[in-house]
Amino acid sequence: MPVSLIIGGQWGDEGKAKVIDYLARDADFVVRYQGGANAGHTVVADGEKFAFHLLPSGVLYPHVTSILGGGMVIDPIALADEIDSVTKRGFALMDRMLISDQAHLVLPYHIQMDRGSEERLGKSSIGTTKKGITPAYVDKIGRRGVRMSDMGRPRGEFQDLMAKRIREANRDLKRHGFASVPVAKTIDALLVVRRKLSPLITDTRVVLWDAIDRGKRILCEGAQGVLLDIDHGTYPFVTSSHPSAGGAQVGTGLPPTSIDRVVGIFKAYCTRVGNGPFPTEDRGAGGKKLARIGNEFGTTTGRPRRCGWFDAVAARTAVKLNGITDIALTKLDVLDTFSEIKVCTSYRRGKKRIDYFPTDCRSLEKCRPHYEVLEGWGMTTDSFEKSQ
Ligand code: IMO
Ligand code: MG
Repeated sequence: MPVSLIIGGQWGDEGKAKVIDYLARDADFVVRYQGGANAGHTVVADGEKFAFHLLPSGVLYPHVTSILGGGMVIDPIALADEIDSVTKRGFALMDRMLISDQAHLVLPYHIQMDRGSEERLGKSSIGTTKKGITPAYVDKIGRRGVRMSDMGRPRGEFQDLMAKRIREANRDLKRHGFASVPVAKTIDALLVVRRKLSPLITDTRVVLWDAIDRGKRILCEGAQGVLLDIDHGTYPFVTSSHPSAGGAQVGTGLPPTSIDRVVGIFKAYCTRVGNGPFPTEDRGAGGKKLARIGNEFGTTTGRPRRCGWFDAVAARTAVKLNGITDIALTKLDVLDTFSEIKVCTSYRRGKKRIDYFPTDCRSLEKCRPHYEVLEGWGMTTDSFEKSQ
């Protein structure tokens, strides 16, 4: 494998970290290519549990170089904290991780804007993780973002740039009626993390091109999932990046022809955190049981996840869209005690059969899932509990 790509096939939380952790044993580089601290990836190493939000899931392996790619939006304060907490637990990360100089910064005013916007929207909110993701990508596309490369500017220049940006952002926050961000305190905090992160910031594209030339093995780690993709997901109930395969190319600088394996991670049922359409959602006893046995609570926000049945329409679409070559099906054991297991094989809109996930939410909302009901493998609750 020169380059393998791991992507979430559903709405995130498919158990990507577990699979990445497994595959990273044979990798030289693990690269995250999009998103930011909205991700929540749980890795267990030597019996210890780690919850990563920004660090790639392969970061604990001493033989792996971890890269935070250019397509990411990175909260530098949160990243420095995450590095500190892992370092304190005995893992020396600083020698084997790099940050792309193209990645954009998530700054305290982005978080403030995300929170304020969500609160204002009330019942019609997206249900974001409030990590500042959308406002940071808005600034990136609006060509007023601050990039990791800006941290490398001389101290005075960086200070001036930040003072200007924070004042501009505060004017925006004020106009919306949201609380503003303290200028001096924010700059001070950024100067501290700048010192820590600066040695890690580089043109990671060149590192990766060189790695390909040397026959190294690269694993690209997607966060979130295909159905949360800004273009291919349930817009507008999506995240603001491209978790799907296309995002890996722009988000790392790796040429598309270098990717020879695309592993789609799917849970044996479906979950979703946040709002938006979810055709196979089960609000009854089945969904509650999936949530309880699957321990479906968000790693980033602690919110209970909405649960429902495996959606083969969405999965089929994810396979086509991303050229998935391999599938990893996770949490199958959560279904152990179900006497009947539902699988949605197509949708019905009126009398019409739909085989692919519609691009438009309104059209998706009119779709009804058509289920095939399979017999469970009949592990009783007793035998299940004994096996725990
Ligand atoms: P991992 O990588 C599940 C969801 C949020 C919300 C929408 C937009 O752990 O699978 P955002 O904060 O990104 O602007 O929120 O996307 N969301 C996730 N859901 N897993 C994730 O990441 C998610 N990251 C964002 O709940 O509906
Ligand atoms: Mg998560």
